[in-house]
Amino acid sequence: MKFLVVNGVNLNMTGRREPAVYGAETLAGINREIAAFAAARGCGVEFYQSNIEGELCAAIQNADGIFDGIILNAGAYTHYSIALRDAIAAVRVPVVEVHMSNVQAREEFRKNSVLTGVCRGEILGFGKNSYILAMESFLL
Ligand code: DQA
Repeated sequence: MKFLVVNGVNLNMTGRREPAVYGAETLAGINREIAAFAAARGCGVEFYQSNIEGELCAAIQNADGIFDGIILNAGAYTHYSIALRDAIAAVRVPVVEVHMSNVQAREEFRKNSVLTGVCRGEILGFGKNSYILAMESFLL
């Protein structure tokens, strides 16, 4: 299987940004661990990050027919991007929503995701391992 890991707005700051919430490891370091997990499972993986909503929509559109699954941490767009929701609904490639933090245990505005309803499932609260658990869910 071949996966696309998509990280949205501010996730490029991982490691420097609120380390008590998101950990001290950079996104590049996390991606290396995901790549090692994928390789051990005989899977392919590519990575994409953007702070721009439309570019994230394009990445989801372009993944259709190319990847077997998308692992998506949309960052704050999770909570209000109808454009991203529509992009996910428009493609056949299944998307698993991911959050490093337990958004249900944080501020009220983080408790609602406009994406979950069009995703295959959601994994949250396991730090960088949320990405690996999401990949694992495709392999069950
Ligand atoms: C996040 C949670 C979001 O609420 C936040 O805006 C992020 C990161 C997470 O991985 O826990 O940027 O998606």
